[in-house]
Amino acid sequence: MFSFLEMAWLYYNESKTRSLVFAGMIVFTLLNSGVSVIFAYVGRDVWSAPSSNGKIATNINNVEREHGGSSRSQIASFKVLDILRRANALEREGRDILHLEVGQPESGAPALVAKAAADALTGPPRKVMGYTEACGLPALRQKITAHYGNKYGLKGEEGTIDIKNIVITTGSSGAFLLAFTACFDVGDVVAVASSGYPCYRNILKSMGCEIATVPINEDFKLTAKELLSEVRRRETEGLKPIKGLILSSPSNPTGVMLDKAEVEAMCIACDDNNIQFISDEIYHGITYGTKVEATARSFSKNAIVINSFSKYYSMSGWRLGWMVVPDRLIDPINRLQQNMFINAPTISQTAAIMCWEEDTIRELESHVAKYSKNRERVLQELENIPEIEEKNIAPADGGLYVYVDLGKDNVAPDLGSVAMCSALLEEEGVAFTPGIDFEDPKSELGDRRFRISYAGSIDNVSDAMKRFRTFWIRWHANVKSKQYEMFFERIRRRTRAT
Ligand SMILES: Cc1ncc(COP(=O)(O)O)c(C=O)c1O
Repeated sequence: MFSFLEMAWLYYNESKTRSLVFAGMIVFTLLNSGVSVIFAYVGRDVWSAPSSNGKIATNINNVEREHGGSSRSQIASFKVLDILRRANALEREGRDILHLEVGQPESGAPALVAKAAADALTGPPRKVMGYTEACGLPALRQKITAHYGNKYGLKGEEGTIDIKNIVITTGSSGAFLLAFTACFDVGDVVAVASSGYPCYRNILKSMGCEIATVPINEDFKLTAKELLSEVRRRETEGLKPIKGLILSSPSNPTGVMLDKAEVEAMCIACDDNNIQFISDEIYHGITYGTKVEATARSFSKNAIVINSFSKYYSMSGWRLGWMVVPDRLIDPINRLQQNMFINAPTISQTAAIMCWEEDTIRELESHVAKYSKNRERVLQELENIPEIEEKNIAPADGGLYVYVDLGKDNVAPDLGSVAMCSALLEEEGVAFTPGIDFEDPKSELGDRRFRISYAGSIDNVSDAMKRFRTFWIRWHANVKSKQYEMFFERIRRRTRAT
């Protein structure tokens, strides 16, 4: 990596014209550090670290400080929403911003769903839209029961999911609150993947649970093997046992999906070790390639399955999701829902009944075809960046994201993925999400990784990736010059010491 500089250094040591060479090297270093300073300024941290002195970060911190709040509320913000806020602010200033930060379908609700909502509101007859039963409209729960039969083969005496096991929730986020409250007490240990959806960790923390971060393997996966090795480690070290596991497959941020055998193994591992498995299946329906989606419910009646209308069904703002709950949790969850939410939005429930109509499915499958093209595009563009190694790109089996590790050669102090995403947004108007949102806060990987969401239009994704490639050349040169600077500094110190 430093061969040119090492040669220059040797030459400097040998040369009679060493002062000239040295002066040249100083000018080179200063010029580059000037660039670094500019980049570091432009890339000032708008969404992260408390030590940040960026304007937005100050505002964010002030908001937190002004609000005060309980100790339960002292959790990390959901960074992607901070980025969205900054991207929106730039947009309001007239900038052309490409949003590849939020995993939100741009398509809106399916036509038949939107029509059902409009019809219900305007009539005739105009529907009241009052409260529903806490666990949701029976007609919608019936549709979901049928969905498990049709899609996963959960039919017949043994397999059928009874309507009593289906609970309609306020998005999957509402389901997390219900599931965590129903299953865990303060101090219980809940396992999450080291790269995972940040709200699991944040909600669990606010509920007083302890987090066991289980490192994903080199294929970016958390399988039964990784879980069991954490179970054994805790046993050996006399730590509290793991009480629960929450995992999404396909995963946000990695896109990695467990295959059928891996889901089965996870269910067995959890059941054998009294671990409450909560399987977040929100990205089911959005998968690519040959892997078959499997629901945890096929392999364990103890598992809680959580799903949502936000992704495949393209209804993120309708705040609607569902859970499949084991018999023993039906009553506790019903009581919690009655008290916490009463019910999920009635208008959304009413309209969502149209989600399994043939025309709706056709429309939704056309979205998946678009995501597939977008995914290809992102992967192709990344392939054209030689510095980003293939092994450092998580296998995007499903979902809406490509997750990239810059690798240790492509970062420098203050020039990791956080600063990169910030500079990319400020300079090129492209919003990506840095890994700090998804990684274990104790790990350095958050500032090495970043996530690209390809849920938007094909044009937007193509344009964003073109802008990123142009930006990358400048950014990478900047990182390299910082590395050279540090290299020279080390040599200087070593020379001084000898
Ligand atoms: C893995 C995962 N689970 C849950 C959610 C929350 O979704 P909802 O809109 O259903 O609350 C998200 C949102 O991006 C997600 O990525």
